[in-house]
Amino acid sequence: MTNLKGKHIILGISGGIAAYKSAMLLRLFVKAGAEVQVVMTPNGKEFITPVTLSALSGKPVISEFFTANTGEWHSHVDLGLWADAMVIAPATASTLAKMATGVADNMLITTYLSAKAPVFVAPAMDLDMMAHPTTTRNLATLKADGVHIIEPATGELASHLTGRGRMEEPEKIAEALDAFFGRQQSLRGRKVLITAGPTYERIDPVRFIGNFSSGKMGYALAAEAARRGASVVLVSGPSALPDPAGDVTTIRIESAREMLAACEEHFADSDITIMSAAVADYAPAHPRDRKIKREHEDVPVMELVKNPDIAATLGARKRPGQILTGFALETDNEMANARQKLAKKNLDMIVLNSLADKGAGFGTDTNKVSIITTDTVTEVPLKSKTEVAGDILDRITELL
Ligand code: CTP
Repeated sequence: MTNLKGKHIILGISGGIAAYKSAMLLRLFVKAGAEVQVVMTPNGKEFITPVTLSALSGKPVISEFFTANTGEWHSHVDLGLWADAMVIAPATASTLAKMATGVADNMLITTYLSAKAPVFVAPAMDLDMMAHPTTTRNLATLKADGVHIIEPATGELASHLTGRGRMEEPEKIAEALDAFFGRQQSLRGRKVLITAGPTYERIDPVRFIGNFSSGKMGYALAAEAARRGASVVLVSGPSALPDPAGDVTTIRIESAREMLAACEEHFADSDITIMSAAVADYAPAHPRDRKIKREHEDVPVMELVKNPDIAATLGARKRPGQILTGFALETDNEMANARQKLAKKNLDMIVLNSLADKGAGFGTDTNKVSIITTDTVTEVPLKSKTEVAGDILDRITELL
């Protein structure tokens, strides 16, 4: 576990039997070279003593908002800024509920609300609490808020019942953090070019030919690539989404021709190019300067011209070492069509999504895809677009 060295970790401990395992987790973090600050809920102290934890971490444990005898105030804001990651293990049903709703009545939750770093939770509770719709709902909320859930294992519980709710083993939690920090570095120094959204092809000043693409998949890819250390150029067609944060230069264009021009400017420098835009295949041959008026004309007949194929244009210019990835949204003969596009556009990888799959495709926050190279197919089940972006970037990193 080399990626934890020098990292600042807040270890949050709430009140569950599994708290005894937190000492082991703390030990693993410290052994791997991390600096750890323990923050406990008042109930957490009933299960493991602060003395043990401060001895292992080499730092006083924080539990209250201030130290009673000196009046020293503990700043959750400073702590939130100090941390590279926050791990809450065990996370009880109550702590998860407070996190999901912002009930800031203890130091652990105020620290969570101030944390700028990624947050991980390792839930631990009895099987009925784990299976309760409230817990399911709270975990879904936290996941949507970007919290990483380290899923509990199935096994014997403190109640002696057997079921799902055992906190994941400390080694597994430490490995998850190590892998996370490893991924954060995986695209450092790389230049990534991404296209996203629809293109609009003007008919007249008020009308266009376009499609239903929202840009969500491409924006998720841009944000995730930046989180992994890449320098990203995002060429986006009209999309309601805000510019992604981090090292992302967002270039907003309207038509396929403008998208091609922006890509041509940045392609030569890019190590990785991902074409997730839904480019309009045709544009009006003679867009009008003035609005077409209904009462002045019969039903107009519109002549169309083919738009340039951006992916194929870049594919033809690709140098050895550059990775070019496309998307395919198909309704029929999906695999065969995707493979054909992979070859024809000289792509290294193509991401296939099917309009037939519920929760996949345009406008949704989730996607279900197959990641295809000439000799591999990786099926990615239905997940958030951010998680799918992570899987796509994992595969691209393997190809680099
Ligand atoms: N693409 C592109 N420029 C175009 C059309 C598509 O760069 N003019 C890219 C898309 O961004 C995507 C891939 O090519 O990465 C496949 O897009 P798709 O629309 O599925 O393919 P087309 O080649 O347009 O084929 P068809 O519409 O006939 O399925």
